[in-house]
Amino acid sequence: MDKEIKVNSRWWNERALLHKKSRYYNINKLVKGDIRLRDFEIKEVGNVEEKKLLHLQCHIGTETLSWARLGASVTGLDFSLESIKIAKKIAKDAKIKSNFIHSNVYESLKHCEVNFFDIVYVSVGSLHWLDNISKWSDIVYKLLKPNGLLYIYEFHPISLVLSEIRPEFDRDYFFVGPVLWDEEGSYTDSDIKTKNNKHIIWDRPLCEIVNAVVKSGLKLQLLNERHGQEYKQFSYLVQNKNGLWVSPKGFGVFPSTYTLKAIK
Ligand SMILES: C[S@@+](CC[C@H](N)C(=O)[O-])C[C@H]1O[C@@H](n2cnc3c(N)ncnc32)[C@H](O)[C@@H]1O
Repeated sequence: MDKEIKVNSRWWNERALLHKKSRYYNINKLVKGDIRLRDFEIKEVGNVEEKKLLHLQCHIGTETLSWARLGASVTGLDFSLESIKIAKKIAKDAKIKSNFIHSNVYESLKHCEVNFFDIVYVSVGSLHWLDNISKWSDIVYKLLKPNGLLYIYEFHPISLVLSEIRPEFDRDYFFVGPVLWDEEGSYTDSDIKTKNNKHIIWDRPLCEIVNAVVKSGLKLQLLNERHGQEYKQFSYLVQNKNGLWVSPKGFGVFPSTYTLKAIK
């Protein structure tokens, strides 16, 4: 696993430096006061004022700092050192009180108190970087205080088995395991030149995630599926009237993302 962590953190460190300049993350707007969260997240999570929120895999902290703007006392954690450095710089420029930890998610308990957080938040593009979802959910359980909330907003695993080239499913939705990718660019800019292009992600169907959460002891409260995603992952996606990217007409409607709430 150490080898995969090294490969993936190299991929993310290079991307973090590109992302801080990207239009997608629009850091200037964030520094000026923007809230980089989706309306449904704010509604489903509810009031965060004075709540202790831990954002696992926080990347450059744009969502973490947005929760702070809504009143939460935030901690972000990520294994990409470049991401953490950028998150701290944004927090300083935006004068937002926050705490950022450089750590592998599996080592969160070395840095964070158990039974401490009111909310553990995980956001789009995170879980498929983890090889062991049961180990991850057991850690989340320990981090939460009694009645604490796990909130996930993620890509729906069905959207991750879409073909790169044409609107069709070209991989096995039920496959559980690692997949090696080797591709230039990033989701913020597919044409950008990059050096560290190998990365490993872990495919798994939605039931694997939900069952891991439930087995860890958390009680499932909500599971929503939504059509359309925020960025143009494949060239054939088209934008709908809400600005979200969906498959072209005739392909059929399938969930692109989901949200999940579970309580300790
Ligand atoms: C797409 S970002 C998710 C955050 C957010 N939705 C965003 O777009 O900024 C995924 C993050 O997961 C982090 N990551 C991947 N594997 C990790 C691990 N094992 N431990 C900690 N962080 C990890 C990466 O460094 C990256 O910053």
